[in-house]
Parts: sequence; C-alpha cells; structure tokens
Amino acid sequence: MVCVLKLGVVGLGYVGIVSSLGFAELGFNVVGVDVDTARVESLSKGRPPVFEPGLEDYLKRNMKRAGGSGGGGVAVFTTDYTRLLGCDVVFITVGTPPREGGGQNLEYFEGAVKMLREVGFRGVVVPRSTVLPGTTERVVAPLFEHVGYNPEFLAEGSAFRDFFNPDKIVLGYSDGVALEALRKVYSPFNAPKLELGVREAELVKYANNAFLALKVAYADEVGNIAKKLGVDVYRVMDAVGLDRRIGRAFLNAGIGFGGSCFPKDLAALIHLSRDLGYEPVLLDAVLEQNRRQPLMLVDLLRTRVRERLGRPSLRGLRVGVLGLAFKPNTDDVREAPSIRVVSALLDEGVEVHAYDPRAEENFRRLSPRFSSNVVYHATAKECVEACEAVLILTEWEEFRDASLYGGRLVLEGRRVLGVEGVCW
Ligand code: UDX
Ligand code: UDX
Repeated sequence: MVCVLKLGVVGLGYVGIVSSLGFAELGFNVVGVDVDTARVESLSKGRPPVFEPGLEDYLKRNMKRAGGSGGGGVAVFTTDYTRLLGCDVVFITVGTPPREGGGQNLEYFEGAVKMLREVGFRGVVVPRSTVLPGTTERVVAPLFEHVGYNPEFLAEGSAFRDFFNPDKIVLGYSDGVALEALRKVYSPFNAPKLELGVREAELVKYANNAFLALKVAYADEVGNIAKKLGVDVYRVMDAVGLDRRIGRAFLNAGIGFGGSCFPKDLAALIHLSRDLGYEPVLLDAVLEQNRRQPLMLVDLLRTRVRERLGRPSLRGLRVGVLGLAFKPNTDDVREAPSIRVVSALLDEGVEVHAYDPRAEENFRRLSPRFSSNVVYHATAKECVEACEAVLILTEWEEFRDASLYGGRLVLEGRRVLGVEGVCW
C-alpha cells in the first residue's frame, strides 16, 4: 500500500507512543513530539520509557525500518515542533489529567495546540486525548481551519492489540478536508467507521468509558450482595453475561476500577453535566460505589483476622500486598485500588509489605508514606513469607501459583486463586 500522508503525534504517553509506532507499522511516516527530552531520547534509542507488552519489539522493528531494512513507515521522535511542518495530519495525545474538583486540566492540551500554531502548522489537527465535548471546538477550531477528533479505545496492557484490532473507529470532523484525511489514515483498517461531528465524537469516548465503569461498579455491587447471601458472584455473572444484550465483558467483580481513564473521565463528565445544569445521579453513584469498594477488602481482612488469628485489631499485623498496579501487565498505578487499600492499612497501624513485578517504583513515587512506610520485596515468595496475612490486589499471572502461600490467610481483591475474596 502506498501511504501518501505524513502523520504527526504530539505527546508521547501510552497513547502517543502506541499510535506513532502503530501508524508507522502500517506504512505511514510519523513524527512523534514530546517536551520531555529524556523520553524522546529513550524512544529514539529504542528503549521503552513505559512498560507495555510488545512495545520493545515494535520499537526494534521501527529502528530496523529506519535503518533502511524492509522498507515501510518510520516513526521518528523529537522535541522539535517544527518537524511537524511536513505533516498532513497531527494527532494530539498529551495527557488531560483531572483538576481538583473534578474538571479537566487542559494546560498541556492548550499548550500543545498553541505550539502547533506558533510554528505555523497548516494541516489537519486531530485531538486524540480525551477532552470534554466542546473542547476541540473551543480550543482548536479558532486556530486551525481543518479540525477533527478521533477518540482512542486503547486499554493499557493490550494497547497494540487494541490499536490494530479496534471494535470501531470514530472519525469526528468539522470540514471535508479533515474527513478526507481521516478516511485516508484509517483506510488500512476494516473495523466499522463512524463519521460524526466533533462534539459527538468527543462524547462517544466519555459515554463508552462511563458505561464500562458502570458495568464494573454494577458487578461489584451485585458481588457485595452475593457475598452476604453466600453466593459466588462469578457463577452468577457467567450466567448473566450470556445474555447477548448484556455480555460478559467488564463484569468481573473485585476491588473496583482504577487507571488513568475511568475515574478521571467519570469525574470530568459529572463536572460538565453539573455545569450544564443537570445532576447526574447515576454517574455519581458509580464513582461513590467505586470509592468504597477497595475498603470492603480491608473490612473483610479485619473480620477474618479476628476470627482466624484471634487478634482484636489489625495493629502490628504483618500484611503482604501482592500487586500495586491498577491492573496486570502495566506499571501504571494511577487511581489504583492499591492506593486506598495500602493507605487504610497504614492508618490502622499494619506493617505493610508489598510486591509488584512492575509497579513498585511508580507506587513509591506516589507519596512519602508509600516510599518509607512500606517494606518492598523483590519476589512474591519473599513478600508472602514475611507476612501473616496476604491480600491479592492485581491479577498478575505469577500470583496464581497456589504453592506460594503456604497455608496463610489469603484474601483476594481480584479473582486469582478462587480462595475467599472481597465479594466471593
Ligand atoms: C492519554 C490521553 O492523552 C488521555 O487524554 C487519555 O484519557 C488517556 O490516554 P497518556 O497517553 O496516558 O494519556 O498520557 P501521559 O502518559 O500523561 O503522557 C502524556 C505525554 O505528553 C507525556 O509524555 C508528556 O511529556 C507529553 N506532554 C505533556 C507534551 O509533550 N507536551 C506537553 O505540553 C505536556
Ligand atoms: C480503559 C478502556 O478500556 C479503554 O478503552 C480506554 O481507552 C481507557 O480506559 P484501561 O484503563 O487501560 O482502559 O483499563 P481497563 O482494562 O478498561 O480496566 C479499567 C479498570 O477496571 C481496571 O482497574 C480493571 O481492573 C477494572 N476492571 C475491568 C474490573 O474491575 N472488572 C472488569 O471486569 C474489568
């Protein structure tokens, strides 16, 4: 396939890196820009700055193509915005973190758009960052003639698979030039393509994430009820999920959803809704349910420790926490349930031991308390052996080895072994 378009990507976080390498793999030449020099250097040398399965291989393949072997597209990484001037379409993938109070911090987004304008870019500008409906029209459209919006649905841990095999592709556009360009960019994909207005496309992302979060919160809530009934919620959800109108995905009950997207996107949508004069009671309840869920595991621990270990409180107990990442196969700890669980344990005077194959460094960095008051171990075995009770917070594959636990009290926040859990 001959790809005539040259693409730019601004912001080399998870989404920007995967998009740059994914488009290059499909034959496009891509310029990836980030303000973080260390990140750009690392990518340019083929070293992954974040952990994502497959990333190292895709970087290697990109370097081979850059070296002239095999032809195809190449992604180059730079801090120099002027390199984007040769691009036809520039995607914006900088982070849009939550602001205190629930809104969205658009500082990086606005900064990137402004820089693009200052260097004199004249092509099609397409945000891929999650921005509230109306943002692209307000921030980008006044500065550029051809504007689109193209939400991403990449989940961390399977981002490359999701990039190449999307369930759908949403092409938001404000004019014919932007639409034509987006059609060309996505011509190699055969997923259903929806051509929508920019505002509609922006809302698709929020509506999508809110629904998935709602499914998780629903499964957790039914799980809490099932536990009181002495019923296994997984057997119930396997049956419920067979209804084609519902589907089994995102019905795994546990200690709630975390990550860089669901909590922040819900909070932002709630905030927007209130600004528009509508009280979003359902979305509010999803966040509140999810805020409480991790602590259910600590309540369960307290009960079992009293019953089985005969201790009146958790004070002084050595508890091993297995898994800190918000889900397996990532080093990401943003909004991870582990944050609430470990904080609650420390508050109760527990001696917290922890192990995560990838996320220890990121977790330590979250707070001085996490870096100095938690004992970290190099292996799961070492962590378990130092403790009287164990909590499994992330379903890393290595935690499935039942011989690790040697008869200790083990409680699960994620279904790993099938021993007692937060709602089973
Ligand atoms: C992305 C999207 O941007 C976010 O809206 C969506 O909800 C989830 O996916 P992510 O890829 O995880 O976020 O972003 P993050 O890891 O925060 O990285 C953003 C990158 O942008 C960083 O490398 C940062 O250095 C870079 N950046 C930030 C810039 O290049 N310029 C800036 O002005 C600010
Ligand atoms: C999500 C969306 O899936 C993705 O499309 C979007 O672009 C970004 O946000 P991500 O946050 O990477 O991706 O992870 P995801 O796999 O969706 O999981 C989110 C959270 O929900 C995790 O904490 C996970 O453990 C939890 N979860 C998921 C459950 O508790 N139960 C489930 O059944 C599924």
